[in-house]
Amino acid sequence: MIINFQNARELLQNDEVVAIPTETVYGLGAWIHSDSGLKKIFSTKERPFFDPLIVHVDGIESAKKLSSDWGEIHQALASSCWPGPLTIVTKKNQLINSLITSGLDSVGLRCPNHSLTLKLLSGIEGGIAAPSANKFGKTSPTTVQHVEDEFNSKVPILDGGPCQIGIESTVAGIQEENGQFKVKIYRPGYFTAKMLKTILEQQGLDIEVVYAQSPVAPGQLEHHYMPQIPLVIVDPSFKWNERANIVNEKMKKTFTNPILWQQPLDAHLASRELYSKMREFDQSGHDLILAIRDPHHHLEEWMGIWNRLEKAKSYSFIS
Ligand code: TXA
Ligand code: MG
Repeated sequence: MIINFQNARELLQNDEVVAIPTETVYGLGAWIHSDSGLKKIFSTKERPFFDPLIVHVDGIESAKKLSSDWGEIHQALASSCWPGPLTIVTKKNQLINSLITSGLDSVGLRCPNHSLTLKLLSGIEGGIAAPSANKFGKTSPTTVQHVEDEFNSKVPILDGGPCQIGIESTVAGIQEENGQFKVKIYRPGYFTAKMLKTILEQQGLDIEVVYAQSPVAPGQLEHHYMPQIPLVIVDPSFKWNERANIVNEKMKKTFTNPILWQQPLDAHLASRELYSKMREFDQSGHDLILAIRDPHHHLEEWMGIWNRLEKAKSYSFIS
């Protein structure tokens, strides 16, 4: 159900959830000051309460109002990357309730780069909590049609067109280790460690940026983003007519109509169409996705994509 901007604002303030466009994926939003709206995010998504939500804000000033330890590193990252696909984990203050953070004392904050949602955010006190607008563990939505399909047209949607980035934001936190601050990337996305390092350097900060498991965040589960038909990762020389038996054996099922998935050469193009392709394959009559992992995919700009595919896979022939 498509709604207009005014409806979206009213629904959020009246404890409802609304699907909102961002540059990464569509989010399922609720006003941060509505407990029942927040609870509806979890029930609509069938999401467990242990998985914390990120909060969307209209800019740095609004972010600072929700944080209790905003410092120069947060400031440097936000001033270069926002509005944009970076979620910054910061220590929360009392305005953020524990439904949002699953009881953690930190909160992920992000200012999305989408004009409609930025306008919505600037008209609502505090911010909007929004995970991706999909059932828990499933493929994220990058078009209005995906959101309609996901929730059987039951969720009101603010139509902002197809998402430009296509995979969820980079999630980064700041941790102190032996008196040194480090930026840790808990979920890879458009912004790579190299990009964040350069951004910090340009602002006179010599800080290490590393990929790491979040010490606290669950939600980084082994299986996630899964399409309806199984996805198997293969190398570029893979031939179905030579290897069908071994795939069927590993998967304990006989597949007859696989689709070989070669992604575009450019990583940004590949991420923009990643989830659309997965949904397209689900509806194509094929019974198996064979995702080719090309050698150049080890480059850092492909990390976000392969992080999703590794969690979406049922099996990999690449160790
Ligand atoms: O691009 C995005 O980030 C999209 C759009 C809608 O903004 N949102 C999104 O939300 O992907 P969600 O809930 O699907 O993913 C949020 C991620 C999860 O992996 C969660 O574990 C992590 O952020 N996260 C949230 N709060 C955290 C915290 N306090 N510390 C560490 N990680 C956190
Ligand atoms: Mg998600």
